[in-house]
Amino acid sequence: MPISATVPTNSIFRDDILKGKVAFVTGGGSGICKGIAESYLRHGAKVTIVSRSKDRLEAAAAEMKKNIPGAQVLAVAADVRDPQQLEAAAKATADKFGRIDILICGAAGNFLAPAESLSYRAFRTVIEIDLIGTFNTIKACFPYLKRSGAASVIGISASLHYKGTALQIHPVAAKAGIDAMFKTLANEWGAYNIRCNIVSPGPIQNTEGMDRLSNKAYHDQLIARIPLRGLGEIVDIEHACLYLATDAARYVTGATLVVDGEWLSGVYVSCRVLQ
Ligand code: COA
Ligand code: NAP
Repeated sequence: MPISATVPTNSIFRDDILKGKVAFVTGGGSGICKGIAESYLRHGAKVTIVSRSKDRLEAAAAEMKKNIPGAQVLAVAADVRDPQQLEAAAKATADKFGRIDILICGAAGNFLAPAESLSYRAFRTVIEIDLIGTFNTIKACFPYLKRSGAASVIGISASLHYKGTALQIHPVAAKAGIDAMFKTLANEWGAYNIRCNIVSPGPIQNTEGMDRLSNKAYHDQLIARIPLRGLGEIVDIEHACLYLATDAARYVTGATLVVDGEWLSGVYVSCRVLQ
């Protein structure tokens, strides 16, 4: 029996559950993190979206304002590899919205490549964006999160590294580092009531990440390897991130919420390997 074909569109949370909260979302101009930003706006938060492309961010912000009545969204271009740009983005958020209570670390880069031919620079690039970029983001936002009094930091990881995935040594190393870092942060920052949790998406359809890692020709074989027999939707990750941002998760920190249909319970081989 496959997962329900009906994608849930209604939230189980009140539409003002994040009223008064401010979220800072890296990668928020596209894909999964754009969905998370929209979901936070729909639940009453003010949101800053951050990535490298100013044009893409401004287009996303305009779409959010058009589709979500009263949406207060700020678009700030910054490269997560540059701490100064992130500090400026965090300050711009506090200047405009007064605070930061929720942080989504979602900016990432990926492509398929075998370890034996991956260049030294290619490996380092993904570590710098995903792992060091996540640390830079958290560190730049920390003074504001501490002041919040009740903050939620969510790292967008993956389930690729829980068993190892061919052609993915670079994100596997980066995401494993992010998971470990969040356990430590949960320990250090519990005293400030800053909760630090991980959401690990599996294969989420209609995303850049999925387009880069899969191949439509092998769609059926991929689905057959997923115990829940279906790909995830962006809304599945939105719901996980909404839960962790609310007081419903006030006693949850250092946790990893895997949203992947138990993708890796079978032996995962990249679809392109099968070509
Ligand atoms: N296969 C192998 N190596 C690759 C590659 C690929 N498909 N794409 C890039 N690289 C290598 C480059 O050749 C370069 O190494 P080299 O100098 O030794 O040749 C290195 O990676 C850095 O590439 P560059 O294009 O300079 O990096 P960037 O910082 O401009 O871009 C990427 C970062 C490569 C991750 C780019 O794909 C990106 O911007 N991705 C964002 C979107 C994304 O990946 N979404 C999915 C999220 S899961
Ligand atoms: P996406 O749309 O390409 O999202 C990646 C975002 O990161 C983009 O908005 C990109 O914007 C931003 N980014 C990349 N490099 C950056 C940098 N140096 N500085 C600042 N921002 C940067 O891909 P997605 O598939 O939705 O992935 C979103 C997150 O989910 C990622 O963390 C990914 O690892 C994770 N994930 C996805 C899947 C999936 O199936 N899609 C599965 C597991 C995990 P700019 O180009 O404008 O910078």
